[in-house]
Amino acid sequence: MKRMLSGIKPTGQLTLGNYIGALRNFVNYQDDYEMIVFIANLHCITEYQEPAELRKNLTDAVALYLACGLDPDKATIFLQTDVHAHAELGYIMACNTYLGELNRMTQFKDKMAKGEKNMTAGLFTYPCLMAADILLYDADYVPVGEDQKQHVELTRDLAQRFNNRYGETFNVPEPLIAKVGARIMSLSDPSKKMSKSEETNKGCIYLLDDLKVARKKIMPAVTDSVGKVQLDKQNQPGLYNLIEIASSLSGRTMEDIVSEFADQGYGKLKAYTADVVCDTLASIQERYTQIIESRQIESVLKEGAEKASAIADRKIEEVKKVIGLEIKY
Ligand code: AMP
Ligand code: TRP
Repeated sequence: MKRMLSGIKPTGQLTLGNYIGALRNFVNYQDDYEMIVFIANLHCITEYQEPAELRKNLTDAVALYLACGLDPDKATIFLQTDVHAHAELGYIMACNTYLGELNRMTQFKDKMAKGEKNMTAGLFTYPCLMAADILLYDADYVPVGEDQKQHVELTRDLAQRFNNRYGETFNVPEPLIAKVGARIMSLSDPSKKMSKSEETNKGCIYLLDDLKVARKKIMPAVTDSVGKVQLDKQNQPGLYNLIEIASSLSGRTMEDIVSEFADQGYGKLKAYTADVVCDTLASIQERYTQIIESRQIESVLKEGAEKASAIADRKIEEVKKVIGLEIKY
């Protein structure tokens, strides 16, 4: 069975973008792949997080993983810091990465360009830790949204460089990006990714949003003045985004949705999208509440960490050995 690995960084509440671009795919893949999914808590602290809030977001993320349908009997689910080899290999990877490579990462460049203050060294070297996350497990595939593709490509380069220097040690992974839903855009500004760090929150739907609130974000979503329901990503990006959301969550093709609403105007399409989103949120939230009450999170993470450590610990020992870091005594 091929191995698949992915992670989410819960710096805030998980969003509909996380669900469509990542989580729902993990769930679909868990039957056909050996699935390893973790909460990337070390990645969260590249920017300061209020401790109590961080703790809540981490717990919620695990509960939401389960609520979205990840099954701990099929997938290995764990917290990154419970497996110490991540930080260790992250440092080793940083020593095998050139500054120029990190300077080329668009996520970092975008933040620089925005003139963000107080950027940390951790933020700059974060792709090295991400590479470690993946390579520790010899993952074959890494299902991610579009924004993470460049980081997985860097991971491939680092794996190949390491293998060339020290001999075959890591499997070279491939990114896996869904055709529909890999980049869900903000409802209030369709030129930007739907993101949990959005300032106003108007364009971002959170998985734990009250259903009325979610509907209130969709109905005024920014569209265009063309006035025709059709697929034109270039000129009607907001409309395209709504159709993409509705398609991802209903399982219908985008064309099918367009043909139903072609003569009905944007209002009807928005109402349909809101219905589909609210149905999805309602079932996730119902399970989320049960999971929080059942207190199964602790046992899921404990078992996950044991399974993950068994793989990661072996790999980090192998890495230290081929680099020459070990002394036999
Ligand atoms: P993050 O929340 O940045 O840790 O992202 C976790 C996963 O969700 C990654 O695979 C991202 O590519 C994916 N993701 C985040 N935001 C979106 C979005 N707006 N559309 C599609 N996928 C997304
Ligand atoms: N960097 C990813 C993000 O922000 C999260 C992540 C960390 C990840 N390590 C990973 C995703 C390894 C896939 C594989 O979305």
